[in-house]
Amino acid sequence: MDHHNRNTATATLNAYVAAQDKLDTLRFITCGSVDDGKSTLIGRLLYESQLIFEDQVATLKKDSKTRNTQDEEIDFSLLVDGLASEREQGITIDVAYRFFNTDHRKFIVADTPGHEQYTRNMATGASTADLAIILIDARNGILPQTKRHTYICQMMGIQHIVVAVNKMDMVDYEEERFEEIVQAYQEIIKGFSFTSLAFIPVSALRGDNIISPSRNMSWYKGPSLIRYIETVQVHGEEGEKPFRLAVQWVNRPTQDFRGFSGTIAAGTVQKGMEVKILPSGETAHTKEIVCFEQSLPTAHKDQAITLVLDREVDVSRGDLIVAANAPCEVGDQFEVQLIWMRKDPGFVGRSYILKLGPIHVNAHILSLKHKVNINTYETQPATSLELNDIVTAKIKLERDIPFESFSECPELGSFILIDKMTNETCAAGMIQYALRRAQNVHKQKLKIDQRSRQDLNGHKSKLLWFTGLSGSGKSTIANKLEQRLYAQGIRTYILDGDNLRHGLNQDLGFTEADRIENIRRAGEVSKLMLDAGVVVMAAFISPFEAERASVRHLVGHDNFVEIFVDTPLDVAESRDPKGLYKKARQGDIPNFTGINSPYERPTAPDIHIETDKTSLDEAVDMILQKLDLHL
Ligand code: ADX
Repeated sequence: MDHHNRNTATATLNAYVAAQDKLDTLRFITCGSVDDGKSTLIGRLLYESQLIFEDQVATLKKDSKTRNTQDEEIDFSLLVDGLASEREQGITIDVAYRFFNTDHRKFIVADTPGHEQYTRNMATGASTADLAIILIDARNGILPQTKRHTYICQMMGIQHIVVAVNKMDMVDYEEERFEEIVQAYQEIIKGFSFTSLAFIPVSALRGDNIISPSRNMSWYKGPSLIRYIETVQVHGEEGEKPFRLAVQWVNRPTQDFRGFSGTIAAGTVQKGMEVKILPSGETAHTKEIVCFEQSLPTAHKDQAITLVLDREVDVSRGDLIVAANAPCEVGDQFEVQLIWMRKDPGFVGRSYILKLGPIHVNAHILSLKHKVNINTYETQPATSLELNDIVTAKIKLERDIPFESFSECPELGSFILIDKMTNETCAAGMIQYALRRAQNVHKQKLKIDQRSRQDLNGHKSKLLWFTGLSGSGKSTIANKLEQRLYAQGIRTYILDGDNLRHGLNQDLGFTEADRIENIRRAGEVSKLMLDAGVVVMAAFISPFEAERASVRHLVGHDNFVEIFVDTPLDVAESRDPKGLYKKARQGDIPNFTGINSPYERPTAPDIHIETDKTSLDEAVDMILQKLDLHL
């Protein structure tokens, strides 16, 4: 190619690339199984658009080594937001993103396989999608999966639905069959409100109504699928939202520069605008908006900026900077929807780390309201969270956080729950609303506090947490220890599993969920007793590491001494002080710890007592030696 041609080609290429850059992007998800013709449809969309594309760049392609595939024009950063970032947390989500473009739009399609982990995969794909194409096989009509797909789409806030009635060639391109399916679909979405809804009869295999109007269905007057998704308006119709910026980090390169960096979640910010910091509620004005070392007069949604304020205010990572005239809410108890993503079930009372953007906070599930059967849309009672469950729950956080409901602002209303032990993502969640109850219950400030009570007693309060199998000797050691402490004039109290189960915990049994609640209550009571200035000895099997860690966290690391009463199962079983092992072996006690219910051994107890090698007195001495109650 001569020099002149090369220049022309490059200029044309540049013009083409520039035109492509201006195109807006539609992200969509295709919902359907292989049988519905999903792969054929995606394949055809990619293939046809590739043709369009290749047509235009055919002459340039040979010439330019820099940009000759469509992929290179794609902004890959678009992919890493939303739930997709949860990959970092070690969860595998099967979502493939594919890219294509036409003269009018760029497209990103999230393709999720239809196997058993369906809900979480589809929810992940749907979390970043503007539009969903719901595929229905014209021969089969509406199937349970159609309802399932539709439910997940509305739950994830997708506003635009295209129902592609596929395989029309297999029903002789019959208008009546198409109309029947339209009617039936209208029926199932009665309770939902989508902003746009279109029905298109297609044959992905034969190409009817995919790119150009089908000659086989002259009764259909609407646009082809590609024409429709090229033109449907999905952006910008919701109006400008107030400014929100979650502080990702506090930027302090020098003594006299202090900025707050993050990506704008909603709205715009101008220089000189009044802003409010949440949750503290302090206000200030913006002095500078910095973006890539440049000072800007204004910045908008999705821009990563550093904000400098006109006065010293306390701002830390996870705080939200919002328009002062339109702040958002702050709360610590919420009604939420959770999609459980883990094989291990989730339970009421267990605590998790809630991650909402840059916010990390301890959270536990207060109660489960119901789970949804996404095949029928019926709700049913829930006692635990199993893989793929969609549950409405109440959660409680350790402190207030700024938030918005998911429907208002998905960026500030969606979160994940992380398992504290394994660091795995357990659930994706969406905030529906804050429970006002929390805001109306205030903490009473009391004049006499833990310190004054400790002073009066002349010693510190402490929680000695005995964990081990039934019959391991927890209560025996605690009893002996209490006598020794009592003799020294120390105020003590024993909280014993068996005893509490006769009163406070009489409603609880031995399922995993009940044991979690048992330990949560025991932890709360221990905390009150610590505040009362007492040395508490708590003797509970407490078989789960997560709950023992929760109690430690609840009462404070320094107040907690974990004592592992380590007795091998066969030794405990041979002692069998209450005859329970015998019964359990006979099959008379379900969920008996060590027999048919697990015991998770402490990995780093403060005190480790091997009762088969240590006498009772030695065990008590060991504890006394380590125990420092001096004020
Ligand atoms: S925990 O697992 O929730 O911590 P907790 O310490 O309160 O248990 O109660 C354990 C005591 O309940 C045992 O010492 C035993 O006497 C009695 N018990 C009755 N059923 C069971 C069971 N299925 N598993 C373990 N202990 C049981």
